[in-house]
Amino acid sequence: TMSAAPSKSISPKDLISTLPTSSDDWCSGPLVLYKNYWLRSTVLERILLAQATIKPRDDDIILATQPKSGTTWLKALAFAITNRGRYGFGDHPLLTHHPHQLVLSIEFHGPGGDHTDLNALASPRLLSTHIPMSLLPPEMSPSSGRRVVYLCRDPKDTFVSRWHFDNKIFHGSTMELDKAYDLFCRGLSPYGPFWEHYLEYWKALATPNKVLFLKYEEIKEDSVRVVQKLAAFLRVPFSQEEESSGVPEEVARLCSFETLTSLQVNQVSVVNDHGDHRFPANSAFFRKGQVGDWANHMSREMGENMDQITKDRLKGSGLAF
Ligand code: A3P
Repeated sequence: TMSAAPSKSISPKDLISTLPTSSDDWCSGPLVLYKNYWLRSTVLERILLAQATIKPRDDDIILATQPKSGTTWLKALAFAITNRGRYGFGDHPLLTHHPHQLVLSIEFHGPGGDHTDLNALASPRLLSTHIPMSLLPPEMSPSSGRRVVYLCRDPKDTFVSRWHFDNKIFHGSTMELDKAYDLFCRGLSPYGPFWEHYLEYWKALATPNKVLFLKYEEIKEDSVRVVQKLAAFLRVPFSQEEESSGVPEEVARLCSFETLTSLQVNQVSVVNDHGDHRFPANSAFFRKGQVGDWANHMSREMGENMDQITKDRLKGSGLAF
């Protein structure tokens, strides 16, 4: 009999099989279009799982980014800031753990899909995500009172970083840069259209005191200032005493590209196999860590063209690069 099944009973796989598919592959395969975003089907599956099973808490703090805009750095900074009373800088967990092990992701948090590892964390939880704001579990969004730190980066550098990363993790199905560039500019990259992801979180700034919006470039320029800003937003501002004894500087140094890449744990190049999904090797999250590396891979014209697209897409928002 034909009965109108409630949408909740449709399995993620069945739902995904009904979605529009991109005609071009992004590395290993096509993307699917779900509520205005192009996603890898394996990623969408995990997003749907997160929506269905995560148990949000009022005091959760969400670190939201698009891949390759500095997630690893932000995780390290937020972890070091919020746990500074607990650990000394000489035996800090960041010296022996990859930042991804210390701040778990809502959608890629380890083995199994039941979120028990997230449920076991003490409050307030620091959680990270690449999920576009409109696809977050509703209770995890700034409009429901959740605090969100959003980090973004110049689209040109993010694109180049992404291209390197994806060619590394999907070895065997690599993409030419020109092809990836074309798809990215047309909005057909994972989590694309790229600019929409920025805009959704940018507009959430209208919710007072719930969103801190950061740029990779501003952390590069003055990481100590950002460390102070982040601490204030996370409601653990530095005391006068901490300021004068240089704690913000120590946090910035501990989380710097130089320090993190010097550590053995971050040089491990073995893929993390969680059984139901594979997580890229620790070392894959560190490459150059510079502003402007796009110029070593793209022509000036390609750069200008992408800048123009960025301008057009962000027009009127007040967000610019
Ligand atoms: P590049 O490929 O341009 O070097 P994500 O963490 O979101 O996956 O982003 C990875 C990018 O951030 C890579 O950029 C990586 O090198 C850079 N990165 C990682 N850790 C960093 C740090 N501590 N400081 C600055 N950049 C960092």
